[in-house]
Amino acid sequence: MIRTAALALAALPAAWTLELADQAGKLPALGWNSWNAYGCDIDEPRVMLAANALVDTGLKGAGYEYVITDDCWQNSEGRDPITSQLRPNLTKFPTGLQGTAEKIHDLGLKVGYYSSSGSMTCGRYAGSLGYEKLDAKTFSDWGMDYLKYDNCFVEPEYFDDCLSCNSDPSFDSKGMKNGSCTSATPQTGYYSFNVTFPFCNLDYPNFPSDGVNYTQKYTALRFRIMRDALLAQNRTIVYSLCEWGVDQPWRWGNATGSSWRTTNDINSGWSRILQILNVNSFLGDYADFYGHNDPDMLEIGNGNLTVEEQRSHFALWAMMKSPLLIGTDITKLTQPELNILENKYLIAFNQDGTFGKPAKPYKWGTNPDYTFNSTFPAQYWAGQSDKGTMVATFNPYNDTKTMTAQFSEIPGLKARGRYRATDVWTGKDMGCKRGSIKTKVEPHDTAVYLLTSC
Ligand code: GAL
Repeated sequence: MIRTAALALAALPAAWTLELADQAGKLPALGWNSWNAYGCDIDEPRVMLAANALVDTGLKGAGYEYVITDDCWQNSEGRDPITSQLRPNLTKFPTGLQGTAEKIHDLGLKVGYYSSSGSMTCGRYAGSLGYEKLDAKTFSDWGMDYLKYDNCFVEPEYFDDCLSCNSDPSFDSKGMKNGSCTSATPQTGYYSFNVTFPFCNLDYPNFPSDGVNYTQKYTALRFRIMRDALLAQNRTIVYSLCEWGVDQPWRWGNATGSSWRTTNDINSGWSRILQILNVNSFLGDYADFYGHNDPDMLEIGNGNLTVEEQRSHFALWAMMKSPLLIGTDITKLTQPELNILENKYLIAFNQDGTFGKPAKPYKWGTNPDYTFNSTFPAQYWAGQSDKGTMVATFNPYNDTKTMTAQFSEIPGLKARGRYRATDVWTGKDMGCKRGSIKTKVEPHDTAVYLLTSC
C-alpha cells in the first residue's frame, strides 16, 4: 500500500498498490474523454457539450463522472518563458483549463486532463518530462481530479536499450525509438541478462518471462516520477497510465497508478476491438481494486459498429473492469446506444465495491484455452459480484450460434445447481435454470446473464 510521496523510486515491489485518499481509483473510472470523438480538434464548447450531455442523458446518474480533456488543449508556443508553466490554448479554452474545470465541477462532475511523460505529447505540445513537480502543481491548482499520462517523445537519457520492435531504426510517429530488438549493451542493473526481445508487435503481451525486470526500466521510472509529484499535491488525483502496454505495465502499474493501458490505440473497427479483447483476456489476474487494466476508451457511437458489436464491446469492457470512458459526441447517441452505456447490471458489476477482480474467460471456445488469437478470442467469461455471478457468452462468428453456459465449467457454480438467470440486456427474469443455459447469440453479440440463487 502506498500512501505517501516519500518513496524510493527504484525499488517498489510490483505487488504494492497505490491507494489514494477517499478511495479514489479503487473502482474503474467512469466518464467521457475527448480523444475518440474529436482527436486534436478539442475546445471548451465541446468539453462542456459533453459535460452537460452527461447530466441531461442520465449518464451522470448512471455513474459517469469524469470529463477528460485529452491531448491538444495546450498552447503551441509551449511553456511560459518565465514561470515554465504549461499554458492552455486560450482560443480553445478562453478561461484556461481552470475556468473549464470550474464549470465542470459546477455540474457535480470531475475533471481530467492529459500530459505526456516525454518532452512532447503525441500531438507535439509540451510534455511533462523534467517538469513533473511543476506540472503536477499546476494541474492541482487548476482543479484536476484525474491525469491521463502518455508515453510520447521520450528523451535519449530515458531510452532503455530497446523500447519496441521495428526494423526502421528511426523515430516512429509517436516519437518512440525503434530499432532492432537485441539489447547489445545491457545497462547493468536494468536487465537481468542480455536479452533479445521476442515481441515485434506493440499489442503482443510478452507473457512468458523474458528476463526483463520491467519495474526497473526507465519507462516505469518516468511514470513513478509523476506519480510522486501528484501524491505531493494537496489534492487527490487519479493517475491513469498510458504507455500502450509496451513495458508490461500490468507488472508495475498497480504500484504506480490506478489504471494502465494494455495496448496501442483503439479505433472503431470491429477487428481492432477484437484484437484488444484478445490481449486483455490474458491479463485479468493483474487487476483488482485500485489497479485496472485499461483496454482503451469506448467506441460506442463511433464508426459502423452494429448494435450487437457495441453490446459485446461494452459488456466485455465492463466485465474486464476497464475504465469506461465514453469517446463520442454524447448528444448524437441513439437510444439503443444510450441503453447500452447505461446498462445497470454491467455498471454494477464494473463498480462492485465487494469484488475487485474482473471477470475472466473460463473457456476460450473455438480455440483451445489460452490461445492468442484476435479473430477468435475467448468466448466464455464469468466473474463474481455482489449481486451474483455474471456470465457472458460471446459469438465472434458472422452467423447466429447456439451457445451454452455450462455451470460445471463456471468457477464458483455448482455443476448441477439451480440458478435464477436474469438477461442483462432486457432485465427479464429467465427463471431457474439447472445445469446450464442455452441461447441463440446473434453474430458478434454477447449474451450476458446474472445468476443468483433460486
Ligand atoms: C496516444 C494515446 C491516445 C491519445 C493520443 C493523444 O498515445 O494512446 O489515447 O491520448 O495519444 O495524442
